[in-house]
Amino acid sequence: MRIFLTGATGYIGSAVLDALLRSGHDVTALVRDPERAERLSLRGVQSVVGELSVPKSYASIAEGCDAIVHTALEQSKRAAVVDRQAIETLLGSAIRRAAKGNPVAFVYTSDLWILGNTSGAAGEEAPLRPTTVVDWRPEHEKLVLDAGRGRVLRTVVVRPGVVYGGARGIVGDFLKDAANGLIRIVGDGGNRWACVYDRDLADLYVRAATQPEAAGIYHVNDEADERVNDIVEAVAKHAKMEPDIRHMPLDEARGKLGPYADALVLNQIVRSSRARGLGWTPTLHSVAGSVPRLFEEFRTARVAA
Ligand SMILES: NC(=O)c1ccc[n+]([C@@H]2O[C@H](COP(=O)([O-])OP(=O)(O)OC[C@H]3O[C@@H](n4cnc5c(N)ncnc54)[C@H](OP(=O)(O)O)[C@@H]3O)[C@@H](O)[C@H]2O)c1
Repeated sequence: MRIFLTGATGYIGSAVLDALLRSGHDVTALVRDPERAERLSLRGVQSVVGELSVPKSYASIAEGCDAIVHTALEQSKRAAVVDRQAIETLLGSAIRRAAKGNPVAFVYTSDLWILGNTSGAAGEEAPLRPTTVVDWRPEHEKLVLDAGRGRVLRTVVVRPGVVYGGARGIVGDFLKDAANGLIRIVGDGGNRWACVYDRDLADLYVRAATQPEAAGIYHVNDEADERVNDIVEAVAKHAKMEPDIRHMPLDEARGKLGPYADALVLNQIVRSSRARGLGWTPTLHSVAGSVPRLFEEFRTARVAA
């Protein structure tokens, strides 16, 4: 399939790109930096140098593709505005192609933080209680899901958990902090995070983009229901020199991190049964149980960077 991918240089998007290429798909990527575009072209990826907020830089290229996978997010105060603009542009491209009788899929990246604290094990039908950093997400999910209702277009909303693997993300930061001798946990660490291994997440994206029955919302996590303390203690135990662990009160963390601190104290138990219904099975089943491998991946990714 010909697939248009945003965010191919990002944490999730680069894993998705690897998985799409491994599955033999023809990928066109929206990239901001010409040097990165050049590097991707060495891997057989056609790149479009452009910007989410400049629709004309990518709308017509996206229109030529059988599936559009949107993983990019601008890390700025404009994140929500730019994301909405990108969704409208990409949905427009997809609808125009579908109107010509071509089957088209649009896969959108949301976030499990949209659920807030869960009560019981949360499936896709669970009520939305988004924490502040993602309070704009429900509207964007709705835009995507509504566009898929007429069956002209197939739309999918992927809600990943906290991603682990490689050197990036929150868990990657724990591995880095361990090497520096101090890991900080926001709150008492008794809360549970929903987490997912980057390669497993990428496998779900491939299924979402290519399987004709995939539509609607998909939670993606390893279902380990791990407490933050258990993750950090496992990281500390396997570090070369055991680091200190410090619990930072939420108020202090808010002062340093803003509303992101509230996301880090969410208590989430989440189930991904719809993903399993697509034949998806996670290969890693917990962060704590995978720490030696994660340290190895972390070192390899740092050397390669
Ligand atoms: N990481 C997680 O644990 C996690 C969990 C759940 C949900 N999510 C969601 O997943 C999405 C991706 O997260 P991530 O961790 O992969 O983020 P990331 O590593 O920061 O990657 C963001 C990607 O978006 C691209 N980008 C940013 N602004 C752009 C713009 N204006 N025009 C074009 N491209 C732009 C970046 O390109 P450059 O390389 O040029 O910067 C990069 O490729 C986000 O919506 C995030 O909220 C992430």
